[in-house]
Amino acid sequence: LKSYCAYVYYMYLFFHSAVCPDQMPELQPWAPGFSESHRVTIGYDRKLLLTSSATVHSIEIANGGKLVIADTNQPLELRAKHILIGNNGELHIGSPECPYKGNLTISLYGRSDDTGDEHSYFGRKYVGVGTGGTLEIHAEKKLSWTFLNKTLHPGEGNENSYHFERSWGNRGIIVHVIEPTTGEVLRTDRFDTYRSKDESRRLAQYVEAVEDGQILAMMVNDEGSNNLEDSARKALSKLGSRHFHRLGFR
Ligand SMILES: *[C@@H]1O[C@H](CO)[C@@H](O)[C@H](O)[C@H]1NC(C)=O
Ligand SMILES: *[C@@H]1O[C@H](CO)[C@@H](O)[C@H](O)[C@H]1NC(C)=O
Repeated sequence: LKSYCAYVYYMYLFFHSAVCPDQMPELQPWAPGFSESHRVTIGYDRKLLLTSSATVHSIEIANGGKLVIADTNQPLELRAKHILIGNNGELHIGSPECPYKGNLTISLYGRSDDTGDEHSYFGRKYVGVGTGGTLEIHAEKKLSWTFLNKTLHPGEGNENSYHFERSWGNRGIIVHVIEPTTGEVLRTDRFDTYRSKDESRRLAQYVEAVEDGQILAMMVNDEGSNNLEDSARKALSKLGSRHFHRLGFR
């Protein structure tokens, strides 16, 4: 019987850790309504589940207080001048195991010339997490940033086609030779003039050999001056570059 109980207990714990934050039984539904003068303090083990849109003056969570945003089909908007999560306070919107699927907007309102309370560190309009506070926000994973490695034309929305592998393999001076009437890139090459003088000489020869009338577009990635020699600087200046002769470290 003992081992059976232990098993059930274990299952219960396991089940619990995978449960969505807004499904925790400890939470009390909370719908504070709409009042710009309502200062909300959530502390002393109050654990609340925001179930509908609301406007308040501000929300401060600390001392064992917890606020969870319900994951509903209704769009939710929470308006406040600030949300401060202090020591031992928690605000949860989804979790890593249970990303938020709803539509939540947090709007911070107020004017810069509002008189009244200003936090010494966060200022006036903020979602602030102080020492010992917890803010968890998890939803659909999105590409937060990437490098662009080709021209993005209006209407071509598929961000997944533009990735640039950032690596030292791309260091130096990158050259494109462009046909001026069609805009076609005829050749691209890279010269690691950080690493070697040979690369500098190769660059000088390369640009000398480009046919008249074509466009040379060049950029420096990371560093390109360390082993750049005068011959290459002169070759580029002769072709019209106004900056190449004084290209410096980084
Ligand atoms: C979320 O809700 C707002 C307000 O109702 C709406 O304007 C917006 O389009 C919704 N966004 C999505 C992705 O459904
Ligand atoms: C851009 O990056 C992608 C992914 O690394 C690669 O497949 C593609 O060839 C690159 N395009 C250009 C123009 O370098």
